[in-house]
Amino acid sequence: MNNFDLEGRVAIITGGNGGIGLGMAEGMARAGATIVIAGRNANKGTKAVSTLETLGATASFITLDVTDEAACHQLIDDTVSTHGRLDVLVNNAGTNIRKEPEEYTVAEWRFVLDTNLTSAFVCSQAAYAAMKKLGGGKTSGGGKIINIGSMFSLFGASFSTAYAASKGGMVQMTKAMACAWAKDNIQVNTVLPGWIDTELTRGARQDVEGLHERIEARTPAGRWGRPDEFAGIAVFLAGSGSDFVTGAVIPVDGGFAAQG
Ligand SMILES: NC(=O)c1ccc[n+]([C@@H]2O[C@H](COP(=O)([O-])OP(=O)(O)OC[C@H]3O[C@@H](n4cnc5c(N)ncnc54)[C@H](OP(=O)(O)O)[C@@H]3O)[C@@H](O)[C@H]2O)c1
Repeated sequence: MNNFDLEGRVAIITGGNGGIGLGMAEGMARAGATIVIAGRNANKGTKAVSTLETLGATASFITLDVTDEAACHQLIDDTVSTHGRLDVLVNNAGTNIRKEPEEYTVAEWRFVLDTNLTSAFVCSQAAYAAMKKLGGGKTSGGGKIINIGSMFSLFGASFSTAYAASKGGMVQMTKAMACAWAKDNIQVNTVLPGWIDTELTRGARQDVEGLHERIEARTPAGRWGRPDEFAGIAVFLAGSGSDFVTGAVIPVDGGFAAQG
């Protein structure tokens, strides 16, 4: 058996129209998966679909705001009715509002928590029935949920109260769901990206003086990561190679979290 073959598997990636999500989608596409990417920006979505199609994948884009609970359910239902199954869900959509804790409004706090954490809960809950159908009682070929955390799942920073709360919550939610759904042969894991060059962190580099250089100095690899460096972990966590890996929290960070 090839543990890295995703032929016949169907994967949804929220926020898969750019950045880390697209890096993961490209990896899974190359491994043979059918890809459904979902996000707000349809222009980015269309471009991402053509990139995935040039890799030989069947790919589509569904417009989605992950803070809309009904739309998350619709995404799962539409995917299952079009492709007949759902094997992999990557809860990747994320946002940040960078402020000192005393400056947040409750609406801003909720916006970050809803986008990053509640959406992952809602999409996972919505995906459960379809995934259970795949995997119940078997030891391989079950459902795979891949959550995207952050170094702020582990560490804090003065400007990251809401974001760190959401990403810390992602880890604990992952562990709880992994325990609950192991009986249904659904594996739930979290990937913790280090500092990766994307739209999100381009904003951070503008807002936080000296961030770029500090990250280079602190990361043992001596550089920022790239979205394409998430292809490998995506294929591993989406395929049979990870059938006994669940509740895990895996940094992909050039050693950032290992540095004392
Ligand atoms: N880059 C890093 O260094 C880093 C480090 C740790 C964790 N992360 C996490 O990695 C994930 C991806 O981020 P990224 O760095 O790749 O940044 P990005 O390129 O800005 O990607 C974020 C994606 O999330 C989508 N998104 C945001 N709000 C959404 C909403 N309400 N509904 C639907 N989609 C939404 C965006 O799609 P639209 O443009 O269509 O809205 C976008 O494609 C996030 O969860 C982020 O927290 C990133």
